[in-house]
Amino acid sequence: MALNDYTTALVTGASSGIGRAVVERLAARGLRVHAVARRKQRLDSLAKKTGCVPHVIDVRDLDAMRFAFEDEKIDVLVNNAGVGRGHESLMRASDEDIEATLHTNIDSIFNAIRVAAPSMIARDRGHIVNMGSWAGLYGQGSTLYGATKGAVHLLSQNLRLELLGSAIRVTEICPGRVRTEFAEKAFRDTDFAREFNKAFRMLSAEDVADAVMYALDTPWHVNVTIVELCGVEQATGGVQVKRGARRGSSPSARR
Ligand SMILES: NC(=O)c1ccc[n+]([C@@H]2O[C@H](COP(=O)([O-])OP(=O)(O)OC[C@H]3O[C@@H](n4cnc5c(N)ncnc54)[C@H](OP(=O)(O)O)[C@@H]3O)[C@@H](O)[C@H]2O)c1
Repeated sequence: MALNDYTTALVTGASSGIGRAVVERLAARGLRVHAVARRKQRLDSLAKKTGCVPHVIDVRDLDAMRFAFEDEKIDVLVNNAGVGRGHESLMRASDEDIEATLHTNIDSIFNAIRVAAPSMIARDRGHIVNMGSWAGLYGQGSTLYGATKGAVHLLSQNLRLELLGSAIRVTEICPGRVRTEFAEKAFRDTDFAREFNKAFRMLSAEDVADAVMYALDTPWHVNVTIVELCGVEQATGGVQVKRGARRGSSPSARR
């Protein structure tokens, strides 16, 4: 089973950015695509353009997800919905930021898998794609967001183990920065958000959608476990140092 054999897809976070680009590509390949997000107008215009089936649902709502999809035979599940609220600082994040980021980025993936996977298992076919991030693999200074994407990383690895022996594939996509609406919503400082999106030549949503399509398009016996990608002007790694953490307490200062 590979993309040419799949008929039905479910994409969360379909109203903008990466999710929207994935819907466009899957629909162009002839799949019936269920597109999930909260902004109705955006979904309606995407449906007009691609023929996808719009669903105005908050992915954190397990009952709503069950009601909409429990009886659907989903072949491709793209868990893409995500937010970066409280991105700059855990100390400055509000209770609502923390709750929204944890629940949207982690719980919603469990919800969608619990709804879509039973039919995949019964039919022994399917592909689950989880949108991770570089922030889930490497320390990048976002304590809250990085923790949620780190959870997506181990969730994906363990799910692959849980499904071993079936034909169901699990892929984690880990992009560096992508130019989407993400930053506008993640950062309270709107100047910083604008700067975030302009700072260098970063990935487009379409670049990431192409990585998703690559994983889906491989022959059925190939499980693309993880794809890391970033713009050519971005890199991660290195050690940061900063003097002054305990000013006056270093041996030379005490002398
Ligand atoms: N942009 C980056 O630099 C970057 C890098 C690495 C990974 N990612 C990840 O890529 C994924 C897509 O982000 P993006 O960059 O494309 O940002 P985006 O344009 O802001 O898209 C986020 C999508 O998630 C949806 N969403 C958020 N909360 C939701 C909820 N409770 N229920 C249903 N849908 C919800 C939004 O739709 P509604 O608001 O209409 O509900 C929107 O369609 C996220 O998981 C993000 O963490 C982004």
